[in-house]
Amino acid sequence: MTIERLGIVGGGQMGAGIGEVAAKAGIDVVIVEAAAEIAEKSQGRISASLEKAVSREKISRADADATLARLQFSTEPGELADRQFVIEAIVENLALKEDLFAKLDSIVTDPDAILASNTSSIPIIKLAAQTNRPDKVIGTHFFNPVPVMALLELVQSLKTSEETVERARSLGEQLGKQMILSKDRAGFIVNYLLVPYIVNAIKMFEEGFASAEDIDNGMKLGANHPMGPLELADFIGLDTMLFVQEVLYAEFADPFYAAPPLLRRMVDAGLLGRKTGEGFYRY
Ligand code: CAA
Ligand code: NAD
Repeated sequence: MTIERLGIVGGGQMGAGIGEVAAKAGIDVVIVEAAAEIAEKSQGRISASLEKAVSREKISRADADATLARLQFSTEPGELADRQFVIEAIVENLALKEDLFAKLDSIVTDPDAILASNTSSIPIIKLAAQTNRPDKVIGTHFFNPVPVMALLELVQSLKTSEETVERARSLGEQLGKQMILSKDRAGFIVNYLLVPYIVNAIKMFEEGFASAEDIDNGMKLGANHPMGPLELADFIGLDTMLFVQEVLYAEFADPFYAAPPLLRRMVDAGLLGRKTGEGFYRY
């Protein structure tokens, strides 16, 4: 059951975090990015995170070096051919993910290899339907920042086999995560609850009901959340927030899930939160 060769597509916030945790657990990891300079950025992101872990005495220098040595970066999806388990962590866009799953199905040679998605919201069956192995497609939804957050939310589609769920659970154990199992509906368990909460904070701010600081302090000081909802939106990325809200709206056809115009305008303006240096706050 043990996974020795993991592939990751997309080395952004999430792909880099998953890669770091997997390599730290002794797994050989290949991360495929869209372009060489982004792959370099991904490597830099992991090095910086490991430096922080060394400085906080969470990991030894030798283990950090060994972790980096287990990571390979590439722009060539063909490098994933020998992987036993591939996790897709590209942008939250259905058409791009569907296209990628069709390609991965022909690239990954072992027919028993699992193809997983880190999607925040998209029903897994939509991705599984692009492959000839829908029983081996599953949602592996990690949380940001992956080296710190304990949870791995597994998502079983109507076609995902029990064996695939067990193999994904076993990978989660290798990575030291705690698992929950969700059925296949937009938003799964956590984002069905979390994303409307954050979006309601955006609506409150947009209406001028309260300042960003007061909304965030309300939830930090009054509900013991480590970040307020607007800080958290900036941390997740406003592009991802908007994509997820659109997937929820498409699934439930309920105006409650309609994205507020302010969120759309901020994404149009490239104000995506921490990743671009400005969102509800400046970084
Ligand atoms: N490896 C190991 N440990 C690490 C690490 C690494 N690479 N990087 C940091 N850590 C450790 C630190 O050493 C520290 O541990 P101690 O407290 O024992 O010293 C701990 O992690 C926290 O790190 P920091 O002190 O640097 O950071 P912080 O205290 O300012 O907290 C935070 C930062 C963890 C992000 C915190 O603000 C937080 O929990 N925010 C909320 C995050 C959240 O809700 N995430 C979920 C987002 S939703 C999602 O992910 C789903 C989706 O689909 C959108
Ligand atoms: P991100 O924008 O930081 O990273 C996405 C990366 O994918 C980029 O580096 C981009 O260059 C790369 N990419 C895009 N198309 C590609 C392709 N065809 N091949 C290879 N690489 C490609 O986004 P993120 O925050 O890491 O989110 C990635 C996924 O994880 C999304 O599905 C998102 O919903 C999900 N997710 C995000 C969070 C979060 O808090 N940000 C949490 C859990 C899950």
